[in-house]
Amino acid sequence: MLAAFLLPATAAEASAPLRTHAAARGKFIGAALATSPLSGESSYRNIAATEFNQVTAENAMKWDSTEPSQGQFNFSGADAIVNFATQNNQQVHGHTLVWHQQTPGWVQGLGASAMRTAIQNHISGVVGRYADNPAVVSWDVVNEVFDDNGNMRTSFWYNTLGQSYIADAFRAARAADSNARLCINDYNVEGINAKSTAMYNLVSSLRQQGVPVDCVGFQGHLAIQYGFPNDLQQNLQRFADLGVQVRITELDIRMQMPRNSSKDSTQATYYRNVVNACNAVTACAGVTIWGFTDKYSWVPDTFSGEGAALIYDESYQQKPAYTAVHDALAGGTSTDTTPPSAPGTPASSNVTSNSATLTWAASTDSGGSGLAGYDVYREQGTNDTLLGRSTTASINLTGLTPSTEYQVYVRARDGAGNVSGNSAAATFTTTTGPVGGACTATPTVQTQWNTGYVVQPVTVTNGGSSAITGWTVTFTLPSGHTLTGSWNAAVTVSGQNVTARNANYNGNLGAGASTSFGFQVSRPSGDTQTPSSYTCA
Ligand code: XIL
Repeated sequence: MLAAFLLPATAAEASAPLRTHAAARGKFIGAALATSPLSGESSYRNIAATEFNQVTAENAMKWDSTEPSQGQFNFSGADAIVNFATQNNQQVHGHTLVWHQQTPGWVQGLGASAMRTAIQNHISGVVGRYADNPAVVSWDVVNEVFDDNGNMRTSFWYNTLGQSYIADAFRAARAADSNARLCINDYNVEGINAKSTAMYNLVSSLRQQGVPVDCVGFQGHLAIQYGFPNDLQQNLQRFADLGVQVRITELDIRMQMPRNSSKDSTQATYYRNVVNACNAVTACAGVTIWGFTDKYSWVPDTFSGEGAALIYDESYQQKPAYTAVHDALAGGTSTDTTPPSAPGTPASSNVTSNSATLTWAASTDSGGSGLAGYDVYREQGTNDTLLGRSTTASINLTGLTPSTEYQVYVRARDGAGNVSGNSAAATFTTTTGPVGGACTATPTVQTQWNTGYVVQPVTVTNGGSSAITGWTVTFTLPSGHTLTGSWNAAVTVSGQNVTARNANYNGNLGAGASTSFGFQVSRPSGDTQTPSSYTCA
């Protein structure tokens, strides 16, 4: 019985499928399923059934599948997924109701009022079909409403209906199923960036208006050559603090082909980091992988030269990424108790009044679980504060205080949670910043048409050296122009003078920090003016 010597003490638990470990944490681990291998391949079905406690239809619930012509619903693919999930005691996440892709031409050509009605009918037909089905628990109500810069995507939805289609869709979904969890889903929102902040502001303002947004989906289409979003956990947590559930909805981690063991190992680290981030955030319901076998993945068809993004290879063999997901769900490998070596002394560069770059010699990890990342601390005596985390041997620190000495050191972590000794400390001093609070407002005219325009974002920046707790932007509308809507600010109009004050969630701006708001105006046909000269105080 050689195997008995090789297996860890908790062998039964350690070899359990992913769903057993996820369920023990009160989380789901899921996969997107495609209908064709689900009906045709027993290996596909077996893994889908045994490893996952949640599923999403990769395509079968999209508009072009469920309502290809107006009012003619077809649920054959959707039902196949839901029935499979029911048989295997899995929860289903409905994907997706309102998206600018995989939506039939008949919808895209509708006028505003007919399009609004089509959204209502589609949502009530699709959500309504599964409203009483206990397997179907959540929906992506809208998908990818932002463009890559965090502006509203100028899709046919937006161009025909303006931003109001989003709230309408959520209200229709709530009317069709009073219990389902209703999500907004997007990509490139995993880290803290302009797009995720636009998502944050939108979710916050929708909820303040009583729109039933219960959940935010972070797609998680990552690539090892672009780096890991080290602030994923922090980003999930800020959304959780708005009171919504968060979830990773479409995780895959692609690489430039060909595959090799070093890329596999980086990929495994990324998978582990995503699962660990969700584990660490109570409001994170779980992680859905976008497929599970490299035999069926959208990646090679979509990203030229890239692939191998999933946790099983094309022959249904488990990859290092599978072990990483397994061990993260199981609570780290039970055998690795060896911490990584201490990192080298950090060297500072690019020091400004509020930011600095630190670089250090990498740690090594010999215990088997692999290096997971680094934590950078500020040494201040007994209560050292965590300044940031990185998966590479370098970090860009932001939000620092001007004219301040920072003594810092670095620690490494491995995949089992073992922590290295501290590096030697290094000291740098931030430069003097501009004096006082100095707020500026910079408008962008996002779209214009004959009789109106949208100004978004109006970026409000605190260029001063100290934090501000509120801001007031004023501007004048050209004569004949009327404000028809605004978001992310409290707006009052007197004659043609507009005053936009911060909303209660975006008034606090640290030195150098920015936020934004937007508004929409109607104007006489043929007039091409837009407001100029904005002031900020
Ligand atoms: C992809 C599917 O995986 C492909 O099979 C299909 O051809 C195109 O759509 N974001 C989403 C998913 O929300 O619906 C997309 O799925 C991948 C990107």
